[in-house]
Amino acid sequence: MVSIMYTFKFALAVLSLLSLCSANNVINPLGHQADPQPISRIESDGKRWYYFPSANRTEAKVYMFASTNLSQVYLGTEPDTQNGRYWEHLPNTGHVIFNFTKNVHQLPEAPAAFKWNESHYVMYVSSDGPTGNRLYALHNDGKDLKKDWTFSGVVQYTDGSPLVGYDAFAFNHPNGNKYLMYTNVTTIYINKFAPEYGFATIEHVKDGGNGTVVASRYEDPFTEAPDVLIQGKKLNLLYTQNDFFSPNYTTFNHAVSTELDPLDPETWKTGQPVQVLASSNTTGVYGTGSVGTFIGPDNKPWIAYTCFYSDEPFNRADENLYDPRQIQAQPLVFKDDEIQPMIPVKPTRHF
Ligand SMILES: *[C@@H]1O[C@H](CO)[C@@H](O)[C@H](O)[C@H]1NC(C)=O
Ligand SMILES: *[C@@H]1O[C@H](CO)[C@@H](O)[C@H](O)[C@H]1NC(C)=O
Ligand SMILES: *[C@@H]1O[C@H](CO)[C@@H](O)[C@H](O)[C@H]1NC(C)=O
Ligand SMILES: *[C@@H]1O[C@H](CO)[C@@H](O)[C@H](O)[C@H]1NC(C)=O
Ligand SMILES: *[C@@H]1O[C@H](CO)[C@@H](O)[C@H](O)[C@H]1NC(C)=O
Ligand SMILES: *[C@@H]1O[C@H](CO)[C@@H](O)[C@H](O)[C@H]1NC(C)=O
Ligand SMILES: *[C@@H]1O[C@H](CO)[C@@H](O)[C@H](O)[C@H]1NC(C)=O
Ligand SMILES: *[C@@H]1O[C@H](CO)[C@@H](O)[C@H](O)[C@H]1NC(C)=O
Repeated sequence: MVSIMYTFKFALAVLSLLSLCSANNVINPLGHQADPQPISRIESDGKRWYYFPSANRTEAKVYMFASTNLSQVYLGTEPDTQNGRYWEHLPNTGHVIFNFTKNVHQLPEAPAAFKWNESHYVMYVSSDGPTGNRLYALHNDGKDLKKDWTFSGVVQYTDGSPLVGYDAFAFNHPNGNKYLMYTNVTTIYINKFAPEYGFATIEHVKDGGNGTVVASRYEDPFTEAPDVLIQGKKLNLLYTQNDFFSPNYTTFNHAVSTELDPLDPETWKTGQPVQVLASSNTTGVYGTGSVGTFIGPDNKPWIAYTCFYSDEPFNRADENLYDPRQIQAQPLVFKDDEIQPMIPVKPTRHF
């Protein structure tokens, strides 16, 4: 009797797990893109819309990809099993939201949008032009995130000097302040916004430097792509290290109590960052990094990240022929409000 009950309960648990997976029904990969920083929200049609900003460096344009179907947020993809690659075949869901003037700041990348407050959304776009790395702020009134983004200044300090860096990420902290993070290649900084100056001005740190250092490793080529997910009582500070589209591109999380001051790392840097996402020989997903977090189809936090697929040892010389980067998404798992290490899902696995 007991064992029948257990079998029954086990079967129920398996069933509910299966229905949970198929309820979300997300097919990875989402598309041939890189550096996702999505936001999602429920629109007046009652549906959750997924917004993935993306920069096309060749065209010098910023796009907003928007869809109610997370599997079709970029161009839809279909596996080409013979070549192990993924081909786009569905309608383009991208809307051009900003044109960079070619030859001035012609190389936009890694746009990240965030909800500034109830009536303002702001997007920060990295731009690698002749004047060096700059961050462009774009503004939207929140009515339609697919259009009407207007230029709102190049990010600068309160003294008017421009910020030099890329991979911006902005967030609202429960302490009431707004912060901007970015990298200068080896070092990730955090700064407090000075909202009285608008959407594009940040404060110098007390010692007159460019910001508070939150992560740094000089021995690795890149420490980049900062992202913050606030979950319960923890600020999950994510960043990625090593070379993009290499198997060693890997994501760390540094969990910090929301009661501590993000600008005072002395109080929280005693804890160690945890590697939460890395290449997996088992699933054939490599180079897992440059992440963004968003609310997924189950109304819980998900992660989107750049990766590539390979059955054979990776040959980086391929980079000249073909940029292999795809974006995948999967649900996050927490313990004590801290993001737990996860295995990247196999491409085409349904969630
Ligand atoms: C960027 O634009 C070029 C030119 O239109 C196009 O060939 C390329 O596929 C685009 N890249 C992405 C990632 O969409
Ligand atoms: C979402 O997109 C996937 C992949 O193209 C497709 O298989 C699925 O049917 C779509 N779901 C809905 C509800 O349209
Ligand atoms: C960007 O430029 C294209 C032409 O290349 C134009 O069709 C589009 O309207 C422009 N979009 C914006 C938001 O400026
Ligand atoms: C939203 O932000 C803008 C710009 O900082 C500010 O002027 C406005 O008062 C804010 N609105 C609310 C409701 O906080
Ligand atoms: C980045 O910042 C660190 C710490 O301030 C500095 O040592 C390093 O030289 C900077 N790197 C670049 C490329 O500016
Ligand atoms: C701040 O950044 C600028 C531009 O990268 C650099 O020239 C300057 O040395 C930095 N200042 C400090 C104190 O790190
Ligand atoms: C990561 O891999 C790339 C090539 O795939 C290599 O050039 C680089 O040295 C590696 N970095 C580390 C820290 O292992
Ligand atoms: C994949 O397997 C090879 C051979 O066993 C090993 O050398 C390599 O470190 C593994 N890579 C990862 C990312 O696990």
